[in-house]
Amino acid sequence: MIESTVSDGVCVLRASAPPANTITFPLLDELRAAIRRANAQDEIRGIILTGRPDHFSAGADVGLFRDIVRPEEAVRTSRIFQEAMQAVEDSAKPVVAAVAGRVMGSALELAMACHYRVCAPATRFNMPEVTLGINPGAGGTQRLPRLVGADEALKMLLAGEAVGAEHGRASGLVDAISQGGDLLETARAVLRSAPGPRKTSACTDKVCDAAANEAVFNRARQRLAGVRPEIIAPRIILEAVEAGLKESFQAGLRKEQEGFAQCMGTPATRNKIYLFFATREASKILSSSGAGGMPTPPLRGHASGDAENMPSERRAGHATPDNGAAPESFGTLASAAAPDIKAAAVIGMGSMGTGIAQALIAGGIRVAALDQEAAALQKGADRIRSSLRGRVERGGLAPDAADAMLGLLTTTTDWRDIAGAPLVIEAVFEDTAVKRGVLAKIEAACGDAAIIASNTSTISLDVLAEGMRRPERLVGMHFFNPAHHMPLVEVIRRDATADSVVAAALGFVKSIRKTPVLVRNREGFLVNRLFIPYLKEAFWLLEEGADAPAIDGAMVEFGFPMGPLALIDMAGLDVLVLTDRVLSRAFPAHGPLSQVAERLVERGCLGQKSGAGVYRYEKGDRTPHPSAETARVIAEVRHAAGRAPRPVGKDEITRRLVLRMVNEAFYVMEEGVAQRESDLDVAMVLGTGFPDFRGGVLRYARDLGLGNVRADLDRLAEEHGARFSPCRLLRETEGVR
Ligand code: NAI
Repeated sequence: MIESTVSDGVCVLRASAPPANTITFPLLDELRAAIRRANAQDEIRGIILTGRPDHFSAGADVGLFRDIVRPEEAVRTSRIFQEAMQAVEDSAKPVVAAVAGRVMGSALELAMACHYRVCAPATRFNMPEVTLGINPGAGGTQRLPRLVGADEALKMLLAGEAVGAEHGRASGLVDAISQGGDLLETARAVLRSAPGPRKTSACTDKVCDAAANEAVFNRARQRLAGVRPEIIAPRIILEAVEAGLKESFQAGLRKEQEGFAQCMGTPATRNKIYLFFATREASKILSSSGAGGMPTPPLRGHASGDAENMPSERRAGHATPDNGAAPESFGTLASAAAPDIKAAAVIGMGSMGTGIAQALIAGGIRVAALDQEAAALQKGADRIRSSLRGRVERGGLAPDAADAMLGLLTTTTDWRDIAGAPLVIEAVFEDTAVKRGVLAKIEAACGDAAIIASNTSTISLDVLAEGMRRPERLVGMHFFNPAHHMPLVEVIRRDATADSVVAAALGFVKSIRKTPVLVRNREGFLVNRLFIPYLKEAFWLLEEGADAPAIDGAMVEFGFPMGPLALIDMAGLDVLVLTDRVLSRAFPAHGPLSQVAERLVERGCLGQKSGAGVYRYEKGDRTPHPSAETARVIAEVRHAAGRAPRPVGKDEITRRLVLRMVNEAFYVMEEGVAQRESDLDVAMVLGTGFPDFRGGVLRYARDLGLGNVRADLDRLAEEHGARFSPCRLLRETEGVR
């Protein structure tokens, strides 16, 4: 695990724990022993701690956290990590960390415990613990401020976002960047000029101004005032930094240990850790039944083994600025085997095709974008260019990386130009005839081995496959809007889709650092299937008497980034009506859409794009205002239905909206649309912004208790109709609490 070589008086300790060099207790033991041995050998002047040339370490093994049950175990885990870091820092001979790749969490804490740090030019550093609902527990809250100052440290610790090598050098995090590519040589040079060990815990120059520190803490406190009470890690992080700088390094370490135990005791953290593993599980094919069908019920448990399209940029709380990748924590994704699809064609450069093309080039895929309209190609390429320019200007992307991405994109109107593509993703108009025509052209233009993916949101893949020469090559790849930003892709399989095609599609989605969830071909697939009933229920609540802001406010309070009515105004009410037509035909039990939505669409109130939807908008401004027109429509609809408005409380709003999703989630499991309950949870969190601290729709339902869910649904069905009747699976899961 720790390989040791000595030459020219320098001991190189190389972490070698494939695939990702995650930090475990045995690795820490070996490291401490290796440091001890190096200190005992007279001929050794200095030590270099490194990993692979392209990857230092993915940080702590998150499995260690999942296994923690009692607070004492959390304290112990933190203490073992802290003591190992201290042993490195206490080395009498200077230790230089030579790092590369994504240096995250405990990997960075380890590097900070070394006396000096050098890195490869493309290295990225971050402390992602906060995204998992925990605080760094290996001294990170203490050493980071001492290296970069309290302000910069809190930015990194509270946001979990990555900084690059140059930024790290400017802030004091790293001492040198290896330019010629020889990391170890750079580390040796630092050792040669180093005066001796420089303990990070003893560095004071960046944190000696108590008044300045206090101002930083006050600003951070103000920022944290808006953090939900269920999520305690940010507050613990701030307290640990404060304790470390106001009292002592040791006091800060103690606060880290206690805080880690507190975080691990919260349901929010447990749920986030559950989703961390569920996300990784989701891309694995559970089993396959002969012709490639998905496994069917009975109900499956969570990945943790417990007993247990409506588009919008803002609806998902999890989109990350960096390539739209799934929230990156501790590098497990980095270790996934890359499939060998390195080129693809995207057909249709409208809003989705453009986002898909951008997602692909950001993932290193060569893209030929084809559209029947040269103007659409021009517009799409311009949009990608300006989006990448924006990222460069905001400092999130290096200029040469943006150029490299753009270099991967070509545009064409000529079908011959996609001949060699191993994967073709169609994103043309949502029209069966148009799509069938395009699929025929793809089959004619490409080789027999090409994988053909459709981004359809409502048309059954079975319908599209009719008339194809090689229907077994057809798979769904349902991206969410905006595709370059949203982390989820539903991979949809027909019973007749070849297993190899499904596996390649899942691998491909992973390779562009998005999260694939495998779904059986069924109307609405997974996310829209659950989300449309939720949106529809919001219109029923409106019709019955609830105010739009009260409905939206209740769901924001529940944890969604925005409420359903504000969201539908962004996506377009017309899209809801059209999508619902398809879903209602397939699933009559969903019940009708309130006439309020239909009438608004008839009047041209389509949402933000028409200046009015449920809310009214001023030109060029997305702030929702109460709409007199909507109030009139609601009054007319009530009058026609002979319904008097009634007060609707927050609890009823939340219960009805959430239970519509819960019931539908059980239908989905009953039909085998999702492979696992945890897949469904991942899809809803990443695809709709369902609060991650609640763990997803089914995890939340199990927390409520399935008996309670059934009883609530029965009551609601009596009051509001059959759309709330618990599905068979939910009825039959009797023994479950
Ligand atoms: P869009 O109307 O913005 O773009 C469609 C593009 O396809 C246009 O540029 C058009 O010129 C091109 N096109 C049409 N027929 C073609 C043909 N025969 N050959 C070559 N190019 C052709 O549509 P949008 O919104 O991008 O949707 C595309 C697909 O993605 C649809 O299937 C839609 O249901 C699906 N989708 C849309 C989402 C959204 O939020 N807009 C979300 C997820 C999926």
